[in-house]
Amino acid sequence: MSRSSAQANLERQLMLARAQLAMYARDLRMLVHREQRVSRQLKATNLQLRAYARDLKVAFDAEHRKARELERAYADTLLRLTQASRYKDEETGAHIQRLSHYARTLARSLGLSPEEVRLIAEAAPMHDVGKVGIPDAILRKPGPLTPSEWAIVKRHPEIGANLLAGSPSRLIEMARSIALTHHERWDGSGYPAGLKGERIPLAGRIVMFVDTYDALRSRRPYKKPLSHRTVCDILLNGNGRTRPSHFDPRLLETFSQIHEAFAQIFARTAD
Ligand SMILES: [Fe+2]
Ligand SMILES: [Fe+2]
Repeated sequence: MSRSSAQANLERQLMLARAQLAMYARDLRMLVHREQRVSRQLKATNLQLRAYARDLKVAFDAEHRKARELERAYADTLLRLTQASRYKDEETGAHIQRLSHYARTLARSLGLSPEEVRLIAEAAPMHDVGKVGIPDAILRKPGPLTPSEWAIVKRHPEIGANLLAGSPSRLIEMARSIALTHHERWDGSGYPAGLKGERIPLAGRIVMFVDTYDALRSRRPYKKPLSHRTVCDILLNGNGRTRPSHFDPRLLETFSQIHEAFAQIFARTAD
């Protein structure tokens, strides 16, 4: 090959290489542009998503606040209803407060969720709200009741449940369930429906148990107050009138482990 043809060959190769490099450079520029465009789009999307999230949080917080206010309003209504029912009944404000504390303690020890514990504790004081529908002459009768008078008193769970029925509030629904079932007994000997075992809602079983504890401990026109030890003995072993078979065994078992807390609640919240 002559020198000039070798040079020409080299120049051709150089030209080709330059053209190829130029192509690479163009491709690279396009790639960079595309990347920049994608990155800009991503940034814009990110900003938009953040704005949505912020709006969503504002809306959620507002909803949450509204729901909380509504629940507070329901709780307030329930409290007023309870206070109204107390005008009719021998049960004191302290009894109602203690019931809420016992129910909270027992429900917590049974491992219920904090929300369930709260609902039971707040709804428990309403258990006897149906007594507003029982004539004073019967509720305040100093002597023992006749069988027909008893039959009237035994209507108070259903009256209470009717009063509280049909509410969208979980709290009022819980109060309804408790009002209806707080005289049912585990062995089926309770009223109004004679429900047995787990057919009785747990909240009803809890309130029935703590109401019995507090009734036994309290002074009533027809009975003396009993000591914590005596009441534990009655609940766990029975005394003829009250039998362990009336209560959910799981509740008795839990109570036997935490009964000291009940004694403390009673001492702290005296009549
Ligand atoms: Fe009752
Ligand atoms: Fe009670």
